Amino acid sequence: MKLILLGPPGAGKGTQAAELASHYGIPHVSTGDLFRAAYKSGDELGLKAHEVIQRGELVPDSIVIGLVERKLDSLKGSGWLLDGFPRTMDQATALDSLLERRGQGLDAVLLIEVEGEEIVARLKDRRICRDCGATYHLRFKPPSIQGQCDMCGGELYQRDDDRPATIRRRLAVYVAETHPLIEYYERKGQLVRVDGNKGIDEVMAEVKESLDRLIAERS
Ligand code: AP5
Repeated sequence: MKLILLGPPGAGKGTQAAELASHYGIPHVSTGDLFRAAYKSGDELGLKAHEVIQRGELVPDSIVIGLVERKLDSLKGSGWLLDGFPRTMDQATALDSLLERRGQGLDAVLLIEVEGEEIVARLKDRRICRDCGATYHLRFKPPSIQGQCDMCGGELYQRDDDRPATIRRRLAVYVAETHPLIEYYERKGQLVRVDGNKGIDEVMAEVKESLDRLIAERS
């Protein structure tokens, strides 16, 4: 399966992607995670991207497209679940060209739709494990022990870009740069809308139902 998860910051893309990747056995490729890993390792690209991410802006297309192409090349033969890419029209057309060169196609673009106020509530109380990257929420998905990851015991931290002013900037950038992709994929008949305002498990059930229907139609 070759899937894209689309949606505003905090829609729950990463939360759903982690579960979907393990359920369907496909690699989860998150551009945000790639940049954070590069920053953690002191890589020059990671340092440059970090400055942009902290401002709530998008990393330039020229950097992101090359990074994703290299990542997808390394996954030859397997499917993938793209989380956070594409985010601009140029990224979407670059992905189309890559797939065309390879004689491949996209199976679906899952759009997780969430209201603005809910997004702010989700992001401002999100916590991430410093070691394994697992995602929590102080109210909606709290860890068993405060400040500690249930999976690996690592320390939980708040992302720099989850501060209120940066959240607002990220949302504005989403509307200007990424929102037009909804119509783009809708016209191609690849868009599947999911109501992301429900609880994590309900959203997961709806996503799996849509994907299972798609798989059944194609087999
Ligand atoms: P990235 O890390 O991709 O950030 P994002 O797209 O803004 O998305 P988030 O990770 O913030 O949210 P999410 O939708 O994954 O939600 P989550 O599951 O964590 O990118 C970061 C930055 O990198 C970008 O701003 C940009 O600068 C740069 N970048 C990345 N890709 C790029 C690209 N292609 N081009 C250019 N620049 C790029 O959930 C959020 C919270 O809500 C969690 O606490 C979770 O527990 C909770 N939650 C999830 N689902 C639910 C639910 N249904 N009900 C209640 N709570 C829920």
